[in-house]
Amino acid sequence: MPFLEHLEDLKLEQLALEHIVPALLDQGFFYTDNFLGEIVGHMVLAQVKQMHCSGVLKDGQLAGRGSGVSKRHIRGDKITWVSGTEKDTEAINFLLKLIDKLISLCVGRLGKNVIRDRSKAMVACYPGNGAGYVKHVDNPNGDGRCVTCIYYLNKHWNAKEHGGVLRIFPEGKSYVADIEPLFDRLLLFWSDRRNPHEVQPSFSTRYAITVWYFDSEERAEAKRRFRDLTAHSSQIGSLIEDLYNALDK
Ligand code: OGA
Ligand code: OGA
Ligand code: MN
Repeated sequence: MPFLEHLEDLKLEQLALEHIVPALLDQGFFYTDNFLGEIVGHMVLAQVKQMHCSGVLKDGQLAGRGSGVSKRHIRGDKITWVSGTEKDTEAINFLLKLIDKLISLCVGRLGKNVIRDRSKAMVACYPGNGAGYVKHVDNPNGDGRCVTCIYYLNKHWNAKEHGGVLRIFPEGKSYVADIEPLFDRLLLFWSDRRNPHEVQPSFSTRYAITVWYFDSEERAEAKRRFRDLTAHSSQIGSLIEDLYNALDK
């Protein structure tokens, strides 16, 4: 068993150093197939399907718009969040551990970015009613997200029939990259303006798990900004309250 683990470690290290790092630095994105293998991949899929069937996936919201208003015309997925330590999601937890390991092997080689932590994992399902996600940038304004990792779970996916292609429009390039959401495929890309992307309308149930790794410095700065902003808006709030009170008199 330790021997096997060692082999796995070597494979991960090779993937990180020989493939992911150079691809991110050159193209800004990278994907690989057969990441977990048929058996473990299937266990992850089974857990995601279980979540879908039991109704825990809810309409996706847009970050920064906490009003709970559905934006189904922008993104038509249903989602939930998994931190990776829950009791009933062992296969997903295993996947997250592996991706964490992979990213930790890349750290120090991705330019100035220091990556220490990540978001929860977003389990997402496009129900196959033609919904997608319009062209967007995950992190257009420095919220701290640095690398987007997406693990796809769709067996027998035929993009001609089922759509659901992730199209990346690399910044400043004349080409696009079309990535099919195939079972056991892991995709990584820079989360910032270098990689606008869209999910094309999906005509079959489409599952994926996404995690965002944070750049420590940018994340800390974003949190500071947010604190200042909320302090500011509560000051404005009390100013407005004073004004109203003055009018009442
Ligand atoms: C956004 C957004 C999904 C996400 O609304 O800007 O990116 O990435 N939402 O969390
Ligand atoms: C997202 C997104 C892409 C995909 O949720 O921000 O772009 O292929 N998803 O599911
Ligand atoms: Mn996105």
